[in-house]
This record gives sequence, C-alpha cells and structure tokens, in this order.
Amino acid sequence: MAEIRQKRIVLGITGGIAAYKAAELTRLFVKDGAEVQVVMTEAACGFITPATMQALSGRPVFTDMWDSRIADNMAHIELSRGADAIVVVPATADFLAKLANGLADDLLSTLCMARPRAGLDGAAYDCPLLAAPAMNRQMWQNNATQRNVKRLAADGVTLLGPASGDQACGEIGMGRMLEAHQIYEAIVAFLQPKLLAGKHVLITAGPTFEAIDPVRGITNRSSGKMGYAIARAAIDAGAQVTLVSGPVALEAPAPAIVERVESAAQMFAAVKKHAKAADIFIAVAAVADYHVAQTSKQKIKRSDADLNLTLVPNEDILAWVAALPKPPYCVGFAAESEKLQEFADAKRRRKKVPLMVANLAQDAIGADDNEITLLDDSGTHTLPRASKPEIARQLVAHIAKLYKSRRTGKD
Ligand code: CTP
Repeated sequence: MAEIRQKRIVLGITGGIAAYKAAELTRLFVKDGAEVQVVMTEAACGFITPATMQALSGRPVFTDMWDSRIADNMAHIELSRGADAIVVVPATADFLAKLANGLADDLLSTLCMARPRAGLDGAAYDCPLLAAPAMNRQMWQNNATQRNVKRLAADGVTLLGPASGDQACGEIGMGRMLEAHQIYEAIVAFLQPKLLAGKHVLITAGPTFEAIDPVRGITNRSSGKMGYAIARAAIDAGAQVTLVSGPVALEAPAPAIVERVESAAQMFAAVKKHAKAADIFIAVAAVADYHVAQTSKQKIKRSDADLNLTLVPNEDILAWVAALPKPPYCVGFAAESEKLQEFADAKRRRKKVPLMVANLAQDAIGADDNEITLLDDSGTHTLPRASKPEIARQLVAHIAKLYKSRRTGKD
C-alpha cells in the first residue's frame, strides 16, 4: 500500500502469547515500505526472540534502557523521534495498567511516556500511541482493566480491538488480539491524511430491492463493497459519514451513521433527510430503475398463464440531489457493460454532476478489487486495478482535491 511507504513505526512488543503476530505485522509493514523500529519488553523476549524481529524488520531490536548503541543512553527519547506512530502489539493487561498510570520502568513504557514528535514544526504534540490488547477474557473484563482502558481512551490512546474468539488458554471470549492484517489495516487507516476533516459526506451503497409480493422482488446485483470501502476511506480521511445502505451482508463502518433501507423509495427518503447537511454526496448504490406498480400483499400463486407486471420509474436520487438549489458536491458511479467512457460521460452530463466514476459492471460486481475511470470537466483519469479499499482511498483523496478547488457555495 502506497499510503504506508516511508512511514516510521515504533513497534512495541510485550509479553503475551499473541507476540507471534507481531512478526507477521512487521512483515506486512516492511513489504509495503514502512520503517519498523522494534522495541521489546523482557517478558516479550520469552515469547519471541529479538533475532526474529531483527531479521524481519532489518533493524537492530532494542530491549534495554541502558543500551549503549544509542548515544547518551537516551534510547527512551531517541527511538521514537520522528516516528509517525508507536504501536504496542500485543499489549498485555499489565502493560495497559502501566500506560494508564504513567509507570515507566522499562524501555518500552518509558518510550510510551516520552513521545515527542520532534523535527516537524516544533509544536508540542505527542507521537500517536496505539495498542492492540491481548489477554484472557476474565483479565479483559476485570474492573481494573476496564478502568484502565477508559482512562487510556480519555488520554488519547487508540486501542485496536480486542476481538472475541478462541483464546490460548482454551477459553472463548473477549480479549483475543486482532489478526496481524486487521491491525495493519487499522494503522494504515489511522495514518491517512485528514483531507475531509469537518466535512459531512453522504453515501448510498448496495442494491435496492423492489418487492413484487412478500417473497419476491426485483433487485440489482451489487455487493455494497465499493460503497462501504468509500465510507471507510471517508471516515479515515476525517469526515463525518452518513451511509444509506440497501440490503447487503457487510459490517457497518464505525462510526458512520447508517440508515438501512430496502427500496429505492426508502433510499430516496433517507437521502432527502440528509442531503441538505451534506458537503459531499457520493451515489454508489445500484438503484433499481423501476418499482412494481402494485405490490401484492399475498404471495402470487403459480399459474400457467403469462404474468404481466407494470413497472413504474423510480426517482433518480443523484439527479435530484444535484438539482438542489445549493447541492453538495455530487459524485456518481456508472457501472456499464460496454462503451464505458461514452456512456459514463453521457450520464454525467444528464445528471449534471461534476464527477462520474466509471467501472465495467462485469469486472466490479462482487469482486474484491476494481479499476475505475474518473470523468470530470478536465477529462478522464484511470486509477489502475487495486483492492477496493485502496481504490476508495485514492478516490476520496481525489474528491477532496476537487471539492477544495471547486466550492459548492456551502462554505
Ligand atoms: N442513481 C440514483 N438513483 C437512481 C438511479 C441511479 O441515484 N434511481 C445513481 C447511482 O447511484 C449512480 C448513478 O446514478 O451513482 C448512475 O447509476 P446507473 O444505474 O448506472 O444509471 P441509470 O441512470 O440508472 O442509467 P442506466 O440504468 O440506463 O445505465
């Protein structure tokens, strides 16, 4: 991932069985071009060796306050100087307690206390501290741990997880550390530039479902993955996100406000409610173009005769928002099966939106990656095939740039 290249991460490892996941996390960081400085507690060395971490990070590992490899014995300050984040993986109950109470009796806890972000603008702010708790479920539920967790959140420490699941002790419950790839994604998200800070972004996602009778309906093929990835990317860029979602099997991206709808009419009603407060509207949903004129209240029984359904056009939600007196900055999605740019550009003009994102339906639906072409007044621009989260981040950065240079009259 390009976003992590050249970032400097101090990776602290404390003494828990989940320490082995720190090895995989380091590999993910290094593979994508980040610099990882590993610092281990004495207990961590009982679970995984500094030699392993040194080989994976390609840098010397530090475990001792008095390590003479650092000039003036100032390891507790020097190692985090210029770092983009300190990440403690795993963070044991004991280490969270130390952090919450300001104890600094070894190299890692001291580093976490002294986190100057030197070399930037001289301002006195801390290098961000993130921690991925890992412990037995009873230790996690213990009042002391819960008190510490609340205190850490109030102190601005970001906790990643824990999750619920099988534990090393054989029990099942809350306290299991997130997987390395989940921690990696959370850190990448955390480090995104806050290009949309203070902006309200309204997004539609997924398909709509137009009922024929209580068990049948008309829908579009859409997994919702692209819309949800854009919601995630907008949140990570600092936006306040409202997601109006048709029926999909995806977890809502926290902390978005999510309105779950079924039909195009319900989606339209939800968008109407939120559109005026939005700075940016991104219509990713595959909205059904028609609904059934008369929905049957009872299940329609099979017969040998032809069945005719009268279909009535649905409101074009995107065109409606774009025609508001003071519209948010509107972005549409065009899924085409042929003549991609020609059809998408025609759609952009017809719906009067400044930016249309075009993709080939057969390539995109349900897939985990995507290739998109952006069409705006200045021409077309293709983002090469990448995972939907990565495409979403690039798209959000592009929208933020266009939004900034082309105000909607809202600020
Ligand atoms: N859209 C919408 N409301 C509708 C139909 C579409 O808001 N009733 C939005 C979609 O969310 C998308 C864009 O318009 O951002 C284009 O959707 P698409 O289905 O490709 O366009 P249609 O206008 O339905 O054109 P067609 O089905 O003829 O390709």
